[in-house]
Amino acid sequence: MNIADQLLTKYPIISDQVDIKELGALLRELEKTLRSGATGNIVEFGCYVGTTSLFIRRLLDAYDFTGRFFTFTIRLRDCQKKPEEYTSAAG
Ligand SMILES: C[S@@+](CC[C@H](N)C(=O)[O-])C[C@H]1O[C@@H](n2cnc3c(N)ncnc32)[C@H](O)[C@@H]1O
Repeated sequence: MNIADQLLTKYPIISDQVDIKELGALLRELEKTLRSGATGNIVEFGCYVGTTSLFIRRLLDAYDFTGRFFTFTIRLRDCQKKPEEYTSAAG
């Protein structure tokens, strides 16, 4: 059994945004890339509460991945805001 499938049997899915079939497809593709010896960093767009992020991190750790792993998400309701409607303490 590949590591992606081992992780899927060992750890729970913590959100209702992704199912085991989708997550499995994502992880198996990432595992193929890791096995190919490709180098670089990983960026995830749409991490939400982090189910996929946790599994990606576990897979990267299993392969001793030395690149960086970034995650981003946006709140869809913010997409409908005009620039002047954004509030941020950082300005
Ligand atoms: C199906 S959910 C993702 C589920 C998540 N990966 C998980 O494991 O639970 C999609 C998320 O992507 C966010 N999103 C949509 N378009 C985006 C974009 N262009 N950049 C970043 N996040 C985005 C949405 O707000 C939503 O939270």
